[in-house]
Amino acid sequence: MLAKAVVSLGGSVVNPGRPDVSFVKKVCRVFNSFRGKLAILVGGGAYAREYAKAIRLLGGNEYESDIVAIEETRQNAMLVKACLKDVYPKIPETFEEASIALKLFDRVVMGGTIPGITTDADAVLLAEKINAKRIINISNVDGVYDKDPSRFKAKKFSKLSINEFYKMALQADKRKAGQHFIFDVVAIKLAMRSRLEIHFVGKNLKDIENAIKGKKHGGTVVSASSSS
Ligand code: UTP
Repeated sequence: MLAKAVVSLGGSVVNPGRPDVSFVKKVCRVFNSFRGKLAILVGGGAYAREYAKAIRLLGGNEYESDIVAIEETRQNAMLVKACLKDVYPKIPETFEEASIALKLFDRVVMGGTIPGITTDADAVLLAEKINAKRIINISNVDGVYDKDPSRFKAKKFSKLSINEFYKMALQADKRKAGQHFIFDVVAIKLAMRSRLEIHFVGKNLKDIENAIKGKKHGGTVVSASSSS
């Protein structure tokens, strides 16, 4: 059977303020070189937050701000779709559609689905739907650290059990709103029930390639069994 992997690609990686065409091109080369089925979930980044905030300021409710944020995730997904080969030519709006698309094409790329969740949770749900065992999270941080590496001298974990990781996420959740943890708590709970492995890597293309291909990489592996 062909290998399967799901990628959760941070919106701020694809669009840190304006679309990062150069990085998207490079990461697509890595995605195109994977000899298997690849599903990519793209996040919203700064545009999603700006639009959601604007909707609130204009009188819209949380549901409506999530809807506009989802549109931004889909817009970012279109950037990635533009440079992928053998890709489903549309951004699926449901996991069912994505799953059918992946039977017909080697690659599929999508954004969010319903209000109230994040693209991390979407990535896990899609992995469940297509029976993928591995999720690769690509963000601006090259792994999971014991403290916020942008503010403190922090230690990177090479591996963590999902229980330890969940505890860290709950701790981070108690901190001030706006500083979010590397993976959302709902998504971690979902990953636990299906014993999924989550690989955290940054923008280093070799690390991304190795993580997708199931090889050793410089990021962090979170799984049901590993411990630090
Ligand atoms: P993201 O998953 O991109 O959130 O979704 P994020 O935490 O900002 O991640 P980065 O910065 O891209 O890495 C952006 C927003 O879109 C809405 C939520 O409001 C979320 O915070 N969203 C996304 C949904 O409502 N449903 C979804 O399925 C996905």
